[in-house]
This record gives sequence, structure tokens and C-alpha cells, in this order.
Amino acid sequence: MNEEENNFNSINNNNNMNNNNNNNDNININSEQKNKKLSKILLMGKCGVGKTSMRSIIFANQAPKDTFVLGYTSEVAETRLKFMGNLIFNLLDCGGQEQFMKQYFETKRESIFSKVGVLIFVVEAVKTEKKLEKQDNIEDLTYFENCINALNEFSPDAKIFVLIHKMDLIKEQNKQKEIFEMKKKELESKSKNFEIKCFATSIWESSLYKAWTEIVASLTHNLSSIQESLKNYAIACNAEEVILFEKNTFLLTCSYSNKKIQDEQRFEKISHIIKKFKLSCMTMSSNFKSMIIQTRNFTTYLDKFTKSTYIMVIISDKSPNLELLKLNTKLCRKKFEEKLEYSLNN
Ligand code: GTP
Ligand code: MG
Repeated sequence: MNEEENNFNSINNNNNMNNNNNNNDNININSEQKNKKLSKILLMGKCGVGKTSMRSIIFANQAPKDTFVLGYTSEVAETRLKFMGNLIFNLLDCGGQEQFMKQYFETKRESIFSKVGVLIFVVEAVKTEKKLEKQDNIEDLTYFENCINALNEFSPDAKIFVLIHKMDLIKEQNKQKEIFEMKKKELESKSKNFEIKCFATSIWESSLYKAWTEIVASLTHNLSSIQESLKNYAIACNAEEVILFEKNTFLLTCSYSNKKIQDEQRFEKISHIIKKFKLSCMTMSSNFKSMIIQTRNFTTYLDKFTKSTYIMVIISDKSPNLELLKLNTKLCRKKFEEKLEYSLNN
């Protein structure tokens, strides 16, 4: 691990970010924006549900425990995020205090809700048994309904994702499922002609990566042409599995496997683990570049690949020729670079 490797390029247009992103590498959006797609993402939900926490973890390399000290977000914290080198997301983290929510649905309605690509609505997974929690639930539903109405008016093509968050606070698995289904049903009943996709999430689990991988994929991908190339590469390297991760977030970009994957969250778990390792390296002022893990049954090779991705290769062979694997990877880098660029631009 040697190389300087930083960060998610982000720029805070609004100084009320109140977070402590440790790696803002400002980019000149005006010049870079040319030839790049810009998608507006709204992150909404009541105060304290965990919006800023999740975006800091996914996009700013923050550790979950560091979110304890986050203050509330005042009005809208707008961040421009560069993803896969070529795409820019305009992420609007909308502070959830009552006075701000009121502004979004009234005076700022048009500016907030127009040209939205994706709405991510976050609610807390509370048990709704106590009176106070019931009140919270009613507020969630009212805000959600207000968002739906505003999107109907200004961005009828927006995609909607709902994160039923802080699942870790509910200990029993059955209860988690029950609450998830109940919340989902309630929210769906308010979603009118929009289709919504719900996820159960927690900053402490890979579920957060699962949700964000799908959200980001809905804005970016048509990477089916890469899939075939990954398969060819896997065959050439005698690999069982090949996975591409976005360089800065470690969100899954695409993958190939020669056998059926049993664990639905396999890749998200890997994202979660590597990101944790990367953070540990960063706290020791060391920058993560590549790694090889060899066990009796398999070898895992992870390395920087294209400008915007890392590659992970899993080989069952007990003693693979690692030098050959590295050489193969190096040789096909340029081809993948071109293919990725083409896929993301079309
Ligand atoms: P506003 O900015 O006021 O709208 O709040 P917010 O939605 O941005 O909430 P924020 O991210 O500041 O999180 C509030 C608290 O929730 C912090 O102390 C986080 O550590 C905590 N939190 C966030 N996500 C989770 C989670 O998945 N589980 C648990 N247990 N706590 C969480
Ligand atoms: Mg916040």
C-alpha cells in the first residue's frame, strides 16, 4: 500500500454541510462538467434519521462511529460527486428539521423538486408501538406524501427509493422483517403512480452498500457489454469470479461468476469489508492500493484497475501464477478503460 489514492471528488456548494468530510478534493465543476452527465439526487426524511451519516460513509470515507458527532443539517447541503470518473451527481442532503421541511414543500418547492433523477426517502425503523413513535410514523408518511405530490408536479420521471433505516436498533430478525413489511406497505399506499423500491438498511451493515449500489446503478449503468469482457478475462485467468468496484466508494460496478452465488449480499459484504480496511489504512496515513490473500482453498487478488475501478479476482487454484495474473490484468486495462467509457457515455 503505497500510492497516494484519495477520495471521492466532491465539492460543497453550500457551506452549511456541518460534517467533517476528511477528503474533499475540490474539482472545478464548470470545466469538468462538460461532456459529463449530471443527475440530481434528493436525500430526504425527518431530522436525525441518518441521511448525512449514510452519505458521509458512502461518499466521503467516513467511519460509521464518526457519525455520532454529526450535527443537524441546516437547510440543504449540496454536494457534487464524481462517480466512475465520468458522472457527476448533484446530491442534495435536505436537513429534516420541521422548519426546513416546510420550506421545501412551500417556498422552495420548485427549485428543490424540479429535474430530480432520484429521490431517496429515509425513514427510521421504529416499532411504532409507543405514542411518540406513532407520531413519528405519521410525520414520515405526511412528508413522503408531500414529496410524491411535488415530484408529480415537477419531476414525474423521478425514481424513488425508500430506505427503512437504523434496522440495527431492532434486535430480532423476525421483528425486523415485520416492521420492514409494515413500513413498506404504508409508504406504497402513498406513492400514487410512482413505483418505489424499499431497502432495510443500517450504517453498521452491508445492507447500506446494497441499497446504494442499486440507487447509483439506476442512474448510471448500462454495463452489459462489460459483462462479456469480464467473462473472457476470467476464462483467460482461470478465475472463478471477477468483480469491478468503483474506485472511491467501493460500490459494486459489475461482476462475473462461473457459479451460482448463494449469498445475495456477497458483493456488498466485500465492499463493506474493503472499505473498512481502506479506512484503517487511511487512519494510519497509508493509502490502500492492492492486496493478495492466499488460503488453502483460494487466492484473492485486488488491485487498482482502470481510472475509476478496482478489480477483484478470485481463483480456486491452490498455487496460481500471480505474476501472470498481474500481467494479464495490466494488458487488458486499456481495453476495459475504453469499454467503460463508452458504456457510461451511451
Ligand atoms: P438532519 O440533518 O437533522 O436532517 O439529520 P440526518 O438525517 O442527517 O441524521 P444524521 O445523519 O445526522 O444522524 C443522526 C444520528 O443517527 C447520528 O448520531 C448517527 O450516528 C445515527 N445513525 C445514522 N444511521 C444509523 C444507523 O443505521 N443505526 C443507528 N443505530 N444509528 C444511526
Ligand atoms: Mg443531516
